[in-house]
Amino acid sequence: MFRKIPMAALTGALALSVAAAGLAAADSLASTPAMTPGATHILERMAADPEVEAIVDHRKGVMRAVGGHMASVAAILLDGAPYDAMLPVHGAALQGLLADIPGLFPEGTEHEDSGADPAVWSDWDTFTSRSQTSTDRAAAFREATEGGNRQAMVQAFSALGQSCGACHEDFRN
Ligand code: HEC
Repeated sequence: MFRKIPMAALTGALALSVAAAGLAAADSLASTPAMTPGATHILERMAADPEVEAIVDHRKGVMRAVGGHMASVAAILLDGAPYDAMLPVHGAALQGLLADIPGLFPEGTEHEDSGADPAVWSDWDTFTSRSQTSTDRAAAFREATEGGNRQAMVQAFSALGQSCGACHEDFRN
């Protein structure tokens, strides 16, 4: 108990100082006159890429989680899986995961492992408007799951599902 907190703090501090040392080294190498522009570029990528990759991994994981909840809800509401009691759990998860979609797509996170179309960033206004529709419909679905009216849940679920497709059509490769 007492040892865990300092250990975690120490690991964090260590990771930070290692990262800082790495960045400083990349900096000083990059400013060495003998360095070719190509090598400088590689060093910049080395410093920048891990975070971009982590952001891409995170958003794909969030999207897959969203897909998992949608599939589970479909199994309950449309195919009769006997887990009605879990509907509010799926509703709350979907609302939380879809609360800030633009936040999952910071500028500069185009990446070869990402299926995000560059239009996400070049047509940001449309992207954020599609995001807002999905966010609102997830909140409405959650509300329906708490009301317990099955027809209202099916309708809200179907509206939410359409909002996924509407965004993917233009913004996912
Ligand atoms: C406002 C746009 C938008 C909305 C709304 C949206 N998505 Fe996505 N989704 C994307 C984009 C863009 C990607 C590609 C992300 C990447 O690969 O970096 C994606 C990727 C995915 C993936 C693939 C993840 C992977 O591992 O490659 C799944 C599954 C998914 N979305 C499911 C859903 C579901 C289900 C909904 C609705 C409940 C939804 N999305 C709503 C934009 C959206």
